[in-house]
Amino acid sequence: MKKLEQLYEGKAKKVFATEDPNVVIVSYKDDATAFDGAKKGTITGKGAINNQMTNYLMQQLEKAGVPTHFVEELNERETAVKKVSIVPLEVIIRNISAGHFASNYGVKEGIVFDEPTIEFSYKNDDLHDPLINDYHAVALKLATWDEIDLIKKYAFQVNDFLKKTLAECGVTLVDFKLEFGKTADGTIVLADEISPDTCRFWDSKTGEKLDKDRFRRDLGNVEGAYQEMARRLLGK
Ligand code: TMP
Ligand code: ASP
Repeated sequence: MKKLEQLYEGKAKKVFATEDPNVVIVSYKDDATAFDGAKKGTITGKGAINNQMTNYLMQQLEKAGVPTHFVEELNERETAVKKVSIVPLEVIIRNISAGHFASNYGVKEGIVFDEPTIEFSYKNDDLHDPLINDYHAVALKLATWDEIDLIKKYAFQVNDFLKKTLAECGVTLVDFKLEFGKTADGTIVLADEISPDTCRFWDSKTGEKLDKDRFRRDLGNVEGAYQEMARRLLGK
């Protein structure tokens, strides 16, 4: 597949056109940001790990009945995906209190919920991705009710699958963020990535953090955490 002009550059990925108007190439970078871009750094090897982990999980999710944008892995850090228009909602599922849930609601990290929670943030850099509810999302025409219902259903299916898959690798899935896209024919598919950048992973025995919180909070051994997740999930 031929890589044509760059269409977009985000904080962690670049997107390129191809000769097929329905397919683009995503290229994962080693760049890392946190706190709305205020903290910047590099996590060596992250792009390759996030690319391969995302592709592995998306292929498994397809088999489990969740449609995704995945088309074909091209090399270590590049993948062909279906061209979609991203639904401007960050979909966050939480199984255990951490991060903004803990700080917003004044509770400690590590409270295991009886059932998972779901929330949405409005993807809008100027507004700093504010929390938004489903009625507001429909009022702003970010998505229809049918699309939101489907997105919720898929998000909980992803949670069930990821929780089980990670448990088998000795990892507890604390929370994660998903993004969905709409293909040319209007089909909703899982897009973006599923990686230590977008999930919280805790070692099931020790509670050690194996995700981007090591970078956000300057906990050290950031690269080691990404490599450990690749080893456990991908066997490399
Ligand atoms: P939060 O606790 O900071 O709201 O994060 C919840 C989950 O979403 C966590 O797994 C990290 C992920 N996340 C992103 O992928 N991108 C973001 O910009 C933020 C704020 C969180
Ligand atoms: N991706 C977000 C940013 O750069 C933050 C995060 O993942 O914590 O601001």
